Amino acid sequence: MQGGTFFKFQSKNLATAWNTEIQPVEHNLGEHPLFSDEALARLVEGNAHAIREVSTMDPEREDKSAWKRGSIEGMNGREVIEAVRDGLYWVNVGDVGTFDRRYQDFIDQLMDTLEAQVPGLKTFNRHIGVLISSPGARVYYHSDVPGQGLLHVRGEKTIWIYPGGDPFLPQESLERVVTGLTNEDIEYDPSFEQHATRILLTPGTGALWPLNWPHRVVNGKSLNVSVTVSFWTDEIRRHALVNTANGVMRHVMGLNPRSRAISGPSYWWRAGLAAAWKASGLSKRYREKYKAEFKINQASRARQTFKEAAE
Ligand SMILES: [Fe+2]
Repeated sequence: MQGGTFFKFQSKNLATAWNTEIQPVEHNLGEHPLFSDEALARLVEGNAHAIREVSTMDPEREDKSAWKRGSIEGMNGREVIEAVRDGLYWVNVGDVGTFDRRYQDFIDQLMDTLEAQVPGLKTFNRHIGVLISSPGARVYYHSDVPGQGLLHVRGEKTIWIYPGGDPFLPQESLERVVTGLTNEDIEYDPSFEQHATRILLTPGTGALWPLNWPHRVVNGKSLNVSVTVSFWTDEIRRHALVNTANGVMRHVMGLNPRSRAISGPSYWWRAGLAAAWKASGLSKRYREKYKAEFKINQASRARQTFKEAAE
């Protein structure tokens, strides 16, 4: 690549608008050989433990119950890419920066660029993932726990991003998501649409959005490759601890927690409860285990429909 990789935040007031507004980002990752078919096949094949999820879904409905988890067992990387190109799948390869330092350099450069423009911002636990998904695939309405963004590399997709808070993300739902008492699912209502920010993602575009803001994605008619960026700050960590403690109080202990402060005595008390919850191992009992419900149809490589996979 001539001139190297670049990331450019478009906002002229990034320092004040950070984490309160959606932040569009320009980049040139699409030109990088680390996102060629060969490189992606290598990522999938050589990094099997990092395949967080392989899924299919009903492409016609915004219905999270139609999300089915699958497996790519027995397939090589090239076969997986071809199956995604021909089928209706969503493959989430997590933490590729650990697998190959060159991917980590991308997110480090992105976050360093951001930190240089936002005084006081300090990010850590920066993770980069790669999403490889089929023409027409969709990801249902959900919210993520860490700081999050999406950089688009190949193909075309549309993302709708909704404000945080009621009614888009009720506090109780966020607590369930953070506590792991649900698999990141929150209720979607079509009436939310008038409040959504709709962004057409093409190669070289992307966005970071404020903490926990819900979003959903629908792919265009092409194989899609995107990069997920996830990061933590001290403030995000404190919010997560408070929401975890409040979630345990509400959903496990049957209480009605009110404070969401991220400093002071009520914060420290909650940080202690969240740590105890994690140390107790009880959270694992509540957390849903990954269970594959279908296997990608590698024999025919035909477009395996959601219906076939669900059978
Ligand atoms: Fe997300």
